Amino acid sequence: MKSSEIREKFLKYFESQGHKRLPGSSLVPKDPTVLLTLAGMLQFKPIFLGQEKPRHKRAATVQKCLRTNDIEQVGRTARHHTFFEMLGNFSFGDYFKREAIKFAWELLTEVFKLPRNRLLIAVFEKDDEAYDIWQKEMKVPAERIFRLDEENNFWAVGPTGPCGPCSEIYYDQGPVRGCGKTGCAPGCDCDRFLEVWNLVFIQYNRNENGELVLLKQKGIDTGMGLERIASVLQGVESNFDTDLFVPLIDKIKQISGQKKLNQTSLRIIADHVRAATNLISDGVIPENTGRGYILRRLLRRAIRHGRLLGIERQFLAEIAADVIEQMRSVYPVLEQKRATVLSAIKTEETNFLATLEQGLALFKEVMQQHAKDKVVPGASAFKLHDTFGFPVELSCEIAAESGYNLDEAGFEREMEQQRERARAAGIPAEKKKLLGLNLDKFGRSEFLGYEKSSSQAKIEAVFPDEKFIVLDRTPFYGESGGQVGDTGLLKVGGKEIRVLDALLTPKGTIVHEVDEIDGLKPEVTVDARIDISKRAATQAHHTATHLLHKALREVLGDHVKQAGSYVGPDKLRFDFSHFAAPTKQELEQVEAMVNQKIGEKIKVEVLQKSYKEAVKMGAMALFGEKYGEQVRVLKIGNYSLELCGGTHVKNTSEIGFFKIAHESALGAGVRRIEAVAGQVAKLQVTYKAKALNDQLEELMRKYRLLQIEKSNLSGEKISDVEVFKVELAELDQLMKAADQQGSARVNALFDHLQGRLDWLRDRTIRVEKEIREQKLKQASSQAAEYVNNIKEVNGIKVLTQEFGQYSMDMLRSVSDTVRNQAGSCVIVLAAVFPGNLRFLITVTDDLVAKGVSARELAGIFGRLVQGKGGGKDVKAEGGGKDPTQVNAAFEAVLAALSK
Ligand code: ALA
Repeated sequence: MKSSEIREKFLKYFESQGHKRLPGSSLVPKDPTVLLTLAGMLQFKPIFLGQEKPRHKRAATVQKCLRTNDIEQVGRTARHHTFFEMLGNFSFGDYFKREAIKFAWELLTEVFKLPRNRLLIAVFEKDDEAYDIWQKEMKVPAERIFRLDEENNFWAVGPTGPCGPCSEIYYDQGPVRGCGKTGCAPGCDCDRFLEVWNLVFIQYNRNENGELVLLKQKGIDTGMGLERIASVLQGVESNFDTDLFVPLIDKIKQISGQKKLNQTSLRIIADHVRAATNLISDGVIPENTGRGYILRRLLRRAIRHGRLLGIERQFLAEIAADVIEQMRSVYPVLEQKRATVLSAIKTEETNFLATLEQGLALFKEVMQQHAKDKVVPGASAFKLHDTFGFPVELSCEIAAESGYNLDEAGFEREMEQQRERARAAGIPAEKKKLLGLNLDKFGRSEFLGYEKSSSQAKIEAVFPDEKFIVLDRTPFYGESGGQVGDTGLLKVGGKEIRVLDALLTPKGTIVHEVDEIDGLKPEVTVDARIDISKRAATQAHHTATHLLHKALREVLGDHVKQAGSYVGPDKLRFDFSHFAAPTKQELEQVEAMVNQKIGEKIKVEVLQKSYKEAVKMGAMALFGEKYGEQVRVLKIGNYSLELCGGTHVKNTSEIGFFKIAHESALGAGVRRIEAVAGQVAKLQVTYKAKALNDQLEELMRKYRLLQIEKSNLSGEKISDVEVFKVELAELDQLMKAADQQGSARVNALFDHLQGRLDWLRDRTIRVEKEIREQKLKQASSQAAEYVNNIKEVNGIKVLTQEFGQYSMDMLRSVSDTVRNQAGSCVIVLAAVFPGNLRFLITVTDDLVAKGVSARELAGIFGRLVQGKGGGKDVKAEGGGKDPTQVNAAFEAVLAALSK
């Protein structure tokens, strides 16, 4: 029975028993307490806990799952995986143990037709009810039913949450597959008794204190591993011999091209690529933390096992393509994210392969150095991690393979030191100035600037050397969260003092940097007023940053996470995780989306929430950022929800317009966008359009002149060229009503301008070339006339001829033609320009043999025209600054020849 049939038969069977077939959920769970979806019941957790009402009392799903707790076992046993599919049926306050057991037994023995005498049962040791149902109602003989302890037969989703006793169904693969030890039975680690199905009788919630609280409604949660039941139904020795794995393993073998291959490596690669492919399609990308790190570990581990199989080139994306092919009908997201999956894998492989070789060499060296104690030092593991991208778990594994240990505590110490360095380096220069100040006695400043732009305030402290002051309360925003500090004025006793910057200490004290300190003393009252135009421009950029973040996630995927930002009056800069350069189309889409939201005039609100509540609402928080108990949540309609302490516009319409100025790579997997919003954006767009218009005009003028010149030469008529410019008023109009179409039109206009410019440049180059060719042709066709001007001096035929603004190419062409017609001769040609001239002197070989040298003649010519000349005896050229002396120079050459 093919795996696809197994999935279908399972779901069909439960449908026939009144279950609703529901889709499985993403590998990235909504539930914030777990990193990855580890079981089919996870998406139903709120229902089991009674927090949500079920829409169906009975449901069945096929759920993709990922667990890393067994990663060491993968490939070494017949039955362990990281990624696997779980077939599950669920009851929400509907049926309980009896039906759950009956359904499972019926499906296995009657639909899948497994022989009853190879099935064994385990129940929780205290669960007599389940025991009796199996023995009395399902007629399973007592010697085939085992009572196991809490560790084996009590299932829980995590340290807290729904849980209950469970009952497992095992398939006996026969003594040949067993360990042969006495006492080998269900629950033994060997491959003989294969646990195929787990039926969980959910009846408790384990609370934060570890107590079991009876749930109002009992429920059923079951899970059968697809890979395992497939191995049983397909009568093969291991999960890796089922149709789920064979094609992948065959492909890896084929790529390796070697005969004898390590089975474990083959299996690890197949397992990990299945996991990676599904993770990426669900929005995870390789990173150094969280889910992204799990993905990175899986990929890098697979790459190294590829090495062990002798594969030196990139190959994982090819296997991933096969995984997509195989699974896309079950998980359509794989097809939708195909390009993302393949490019993320390729990028990761490129990055790791670049250093793998060197890393492995270093590893070997380290092991040789520590052959005695067989310990890989923490510092070496850190270097492998930091410089060569070896996840420490991978280093542990490689070490273990050679019987070495890795000093993990030492590694952790190195990591902590690096974090410390990063923290120190992350403090901006101005804040470093603050480090010297003793600000200990100040707490969080009262910040009025969310509502007010000015206020009376009392001076609390003055630092005269640094020109810093602290106020009891202030409308000045202290630089933080990427947003720059406010500037403005302090009025004190009719005097105005400028505030150059406002800074925020880690404890929340706002410190004002002022341009002079005279008159500022503690206890003095001042009138503090911020520069509202700078603040307004900054706010437009800040709210635009939130819109940009959201739009990036929509266009590029949920893996996009903020990695840093700058929000100022001049621009915004947004750094985010993404594995490849976004395309022009993607960027335009993002830009259009942001403008759409500006055009929708959405209200921007701030909600005060507890951190927990905010996260529960789905507000995006920055990883690694410390938040207080109470947080501000910035809500832009139903579009964006983010924790943020910055200041913002009240309505998206205030942003006016948004334009991406620049996109670049910041590091491995991190991109940077610079963008402008509001008045700045409008000005930049207008300036750019003006500049392009000017360039076009200039080029157009040049092109026209060239056309005229060409027409004079060839007699052809001038073909009309359409003048194209962008009407600035039209751009203005488009930006006024910012929306998706307007934004797209602005870009289309720029593209059009640029297109015209490129076209004109092309044409200009072409016409210039045509003119050159035309002139050359003319020059040589007129050469016959010049032959008539040849004089004889001292028995030598000489031509001296002056031309207008001829290029050197044209002089050469004339010279060649004259020489061909006249035979033995000296040719002296000059092209005269305003303020300078060029000349070319040619001497035929026979005259060179008699002692005439073009180089010498060029020297004479050059001196007379205030220039110089040089070259060979047969041909020399030069230039000069005095064209009025051209005739004198000709004469001088003739005089030299006559001697
Ligand atoms: N949730 C149960 C398990 O994962 C079925 O084993």
